Amino acid sequence: MEALKSVDKNMKNFHKQGAFLTSKNGEIINTMTISWGNLGLAWGKPVFIIYVRKSRFTHDIIDKSGEFTISLPLDNSMKKPLGVCGSKSGRDVDKFQLAGINTKPSNKLKSPVIDGCDVYFECKVVYKHNISPEIISEDINKSTYLEGDYHTVFYGEVIDYYVGDK
Ligand SMILES: Cc1cc2nc3c(=O)[nH]c(=O)nc-3n(C[C@H](O)[C@H](O)[C@H](O)COP(=O)(O)O)c2cc1C
Repeated sequence: MEALKSVDKNMKNFHKQGAFLTSKNGEIINTMTISWGNLGLAWGKPVFIIYVRKSRFTHDIIDKSGEFTISLPLDNSMKKPLGVCGSKSGRDVDKFQLAGINTKPSNKLKSPVIDGCDVYFECKVVYKHNISPEIISEDINKSTYLEGDYHTVFYGEVIDYYVGDK
């Protein structure tokens, strides 16, 4: 029960203020803020599901690398960096420098995590699908996709998770 309470608390923080979604493909590393996502179970595996619009620089990186990390702060210390990483694109600026954040190696992936966060997940993409205008509810299609730019939903098998040492 305590463990469940802690997952619940972590996910509330995630939806409220966001987390860093980071991926590395070759020499390219990028991070962006996300606040949509679910942690659950599918195919008998722990799975972190994320929603990334096609226009995001991060989208192509994850598509190619097949992996991502989630770095989740549980307090307000990352408010500013989350703001920068949720409004600037890695196509245009060095977000790490601009946001004043550093990466550190993850345990099991090439993609790093963001230093100074509280909870980390390392994920390998095991499935993905594109939100389809034909089968999504008309309400959501109107409210969320007026300009198209549909999300791709990436399912990442959680291969490691741990708390930070800040
Ligand atoms: C609090 C917050 C939550 C966000 N959540 C998402 C999300 O779940 N999915 C998404 O595609 N974009 C989300 N964004 C927008 C991206 O973080 C933003 O467009 C970012 O600049 C993309 O960076 P990139 O082009 O370097 O990948 C969010 C932004 C903020 C501020």
